[in-house]
Amino acid sequence: MKAKATAIGSFLICLLFSCKHKESEYHNLEEKITEKSKTYHGIDISSEAYINDYELVEISEGGHTFLIPERKSQIKSFSCTECHSRPLVGMQKDSRIQRAHWDVEMKHANASTMNCATCHNGNDMNHLKSLANDQVDFNMSYLLCAQCHSPQFEDWKGGAHGKNIGGWAKPRASMTCVNCHNPHQPQIPPKWPIRFNSQMEIERK
Ligand code: HEC
Ligand code: HEC
Ligand code: HEC
Ligand code: HEC
Repeated sequence: MKAKATAIGSFLICLLFSCKHKESEYHNLEEKITEKSKTYHGIDISSEAYINDYELVEISEGGHTFLIPERKSQIKSFSCTECHSRPLVGMQKDSRIQRAHWDVEMKHANASTMNCATCHNGNDMNHLKSLANDQVDFNMSYLLCAQCHSPQFEDWKGGAHGKNIGGWAKPRASMTCVNCHNPHQPQIPPKWPIRFNSQMEIERK
């Protein structure tokens, strides 16, 4: 009986100390990244130097707080109210006003699911709008995408979909949906992988 208790005891002690072994020094990946980010071979590492070129806004989503690029300064036709100073309906009926936005062609969901008014509010063009008619800032357009693409949104929050601008060292700055997907034509066209072509190499010589 005593021998059995000692065996169990030493097994438990073993479990306790195995936490100190090299491989399981950290309890999870997040902890490992945070710890290793502090110093790397004695050098302090940070993403700061790589994200300085961007104007960033901080967001907090489901326990993740990180930075995303600001959008409004990147949109040529912003501020929309330079032209949309009155409700859209009136503008569309006014025959003195020329047609606009020839370059915006929708290739997203089909027309019964989505039209301009799904995301834009004709009475408040400087803001986007959610499906529930809430005002959404142009810098936070990922909130629109999240309504219908929750798997990608979940992945993006954790960093599995999309791209960190600087790297995994803090502060974390991440591309937002519209940095990669045009909201009007979000599909990424398929590409062939770049291959080393030995035949072309021979022809070049
Ligand atoms: C240079 C003037 C101008 C600016 C700037 C402008 N618009 Fe417009 N927009 C128009 C005019 C004029 C119309 C109405 C005529 C038309 O529908 O072609 C219009 C129509 C629209 C429509 C309705 C299109 C449709 O087919 O129902 C949307 C949506 C829209 N604008 C969004 C925006 C947004 C968002 C911005 C800012 C990011 C913006 N516009 C900035 C001139 C402008
Ligand atoms: C799925 C949501 C969605 C729909 C539907 C949509 N937009 Fe947009 N639109 C956006 C978002 C988000 C932006 C801001 C993109 C950015 O940050 O670059 C934008 C930007 C714009 C802009 C300013 C940038 C530019 O390309 O000139 C115009 C104009 C515009 N939309 C017009 C329209 C019109 C017209 C329609 C309908 C034919 C439409 N949008 C449908 C989400 C949408
Ligand atoms: C109202 C719902 C809705 C909103 C809002 C919306 N989408 Fe979509 N999206 C769809 C639907 C529906 C499809 C078509 C799905 C399909 O063909 O399988 C689609 C297709 C796509 C695709 C192509 C998927 C593929 O498999 O090729 C991408 C990428 C995408 N959306 C990104 C976005 C982004 C980025 C935003 C925000 C700017 C956004 N969507 C906002 C409903 C939405
Ligand atoms: C750094 C660029 C980047 C960012 C940021 C990004 N995406 Fe994507 N996304 C891609 C690429 C590239 C693909 C195409 C993958 C493929 O074809 O296999 C894709 C594919 C998709 C698809 C098609 C289905 C799939 O998973 O392949 C959807 C929907 C989508 N993204 C939505 C989003 C939403 C919503 C956001 C923001 C929350 C977002 N993306 C942010 C690059 C990005």
